[in-house]
Amino acid sequence: MYYPEEVIEEVRERNDVVDVIGSYVQLKKKGSSYFGLCPFHNEKSPSFSVSPGKQMYYCFGCGKGGNVISFIMEYENFGFVDALKLLADRAGVTLPEAEYSKEDKKRTDEKNLLLEIQKKAALYFYYQLKSENGARGYEYLKNRGLSDQTIKSFGLGFANPYPNDLYRYLKQQGYSDLALKESGLVKIEERGAYDKFWNRVMFPIMDINNRVIGFGGRVMGDGSPKYLNSPETKIFDKSRNLYGMNAARKSRKPYILICEGYMDVISMHQAGFTNAVASLGTAFTLQHGLLIKRYTKEVILAYDSDTAGINAALRAIPILKDAGLSIRVLNLKPYKDPDEFIKAEGAEAFQQRLDEAENSFLFEIRVIKEQYSMEDPEQKTQFFNEAAKKLLEFSDEMERNNYMEAIARTYHISYDLLKRRVIYYGSRTELKEKPMKLRSGIQSRREKDAGVKQAQKLLITWICEEPEIFSKVHNILNPSDFTEGIYQKIAKLLFAQGERGEINPAEILNHFMQGEEEDTQVAAIFHAKLPIYPTREERNRAFRETVLRIKRNHLEEISKHVQQMDELQQIVRKKKELEELNISLD
Ligand code: UTP
Ligand code: MN
Repeated sequence: MYYPEEVIEEVRERNDVVDVIGSYVQLKKKGSSYFGLCPFHNEKSPSFSVSPGKQMYYCFGCGKGGNVISFIMEYENFGFVDALKLLADRAGVTLPEAEYSKEDKKRTDEKNLLLEIQKKAALYFYYQLKSENGARGYEYLKNRGLSDQTIKSFGLGFANPYPNDLYRYLKQQGYSDLALKESGLVKIEERGAYDKFWNRVMFPIMDINNRVIGFGGRVMGDGSPKYLNSPETKIFDKSRNLYGMNAARKSRKPYILICEGYMDVISMHQAGFTNAVASLGTAFTLQHGLLIKRYTKEVILAYDSDTAGINAALRAIPILKDAGLSIRVLNLKPYKDPDEFIKAEGAEAFQQRLDEAENSFLFEIRVIKEQYSMEDPEQKTQFFNEAAKKLLEFSDEMERNNYMEAIARTYHISYDLLKRRVIYYGSRTELKEKPMKLRSGIQSRREKDAGVKQAQKLLITWICEEPEIFSKVHNILNPSDFTEGIYQKIAKLLFAQGERGEINPAEILNHFMQGEEEDTQVAAIFHAKLPIYPTREERNRAFRETVLRIKRNHLEEISKHVQQMDELQQIVRKKKELEELNISLD
């Protein structure tokens, strides 16, 4: 779907970036910018800056940045169109009817078709479960303690024990082989079509809007693989969907419970813990974390109590932290998983365990401790050293002190001693950050590339900060001198603005909004730090060097590809002229 550029720009202009972001994040003025705690990563001291002059934001901690539209996209997890609609609404701009591009329309149609197929399949499986064919599946689920109500609300079903039962049904409904193949439900081979799932109880996976996007299927009893899952398709992205989130997000509980499996989610919901979700065999991702963050600030990890579960929790904790969530960890022992716990002990005991769930940092420390024997003085020392290093994760002093106190209390060590150890490691890491320089051919080439890139970035920032220098630059450089793909794209837009006499970085960002991740990269470019030059001369020299470096690099690039002698001579001449060029900011 697309809107004319002028409309996008009008919406952007009418929404002041400080106003809009200020309604989500508490901002404080500092110099010409505003600062606050970054909403996109977890931090204790503000590194998130909003510039009213540039109409952009940038986080020096996590590198996220952009204009007011990309802020809404990021914060609300909206697509471009929804973000634009929200801002248009806010500023009282009426959007014209959007036009669909041909590709957009095709993509939407394809997705809708795939959604339709998944839905048909889910209904078919559900129907089979309730019919005579599915008696075995129904019995299996009943034996696992599920009520009819639960089976219904999760839409559980049954895939018949024939190799192409679903395929034949869906064909009859008029879907093409190609579409069925794309759905991931059917494999089309030379000898015929086969269902992906047969003779299994079926768990439809829904997105947060209750649309079926894939399935898990379990063997009844022992057998391998225990669960089969739909492959990723155009509508099923495993790193962005959580099983049970469609219901959990409506639970109005103060936290989300994260577990490993289908049956865990279902058991918990049935026992009244309707805030449970699972990441389903795939590793927990930042996108999962951010999805949860839309609904709550806290999570409790309810992973299996075996080693695999503990390791999965250790991997998920830093990711959840990055998403800005606070985390506790549930102790399910002596049971394997939430499903077994609830079956054995009931909902009340489970709630009790939830109330006692351990702070994730103390959980991590406890796991470390289990690798050492505290009876052995040497190992005990090692453990405290590890704990001291880990405490450095907290940059906020008060928070770090609170954790030091807790550890000192729990593991019987003097607070002062532990604190001195933490300070000791803290000072060592600072020293470590000055790396030794290694030199090799490849290395210096890389350094040169980085230098050129740096120069292109610096000049773009410079022009944005001091638009008057554009008049000096454009006599010498043109956008094609910016050899880095993305810088060239920006330079083109920037030069066009410069020619019109209106440098406007936030508008440039409009052009990158619909691409993946690109806008963050672009925003970072506008925020290269301008060095502070102590004297006028040094400033002039830096400016000249930057411009020449960009030009020189481009000429060298061209000379690599010339075929004719006279072309080469021309380039040599140009390079010479360049060195003699008189260019200054004054
Ligand atoms: P578990 O093996 O812990 O199974 O896998 P479970 O949840 O306890 O299942 P039940 O109670 O025996 O039915 C946890 C999750 O990992 C994924 C599934 O999402 C499962 O729910 N998994 C497991 C697979 O995708 N494939 C497998 O073969 C096994
Ligand atoms: Mn289980």
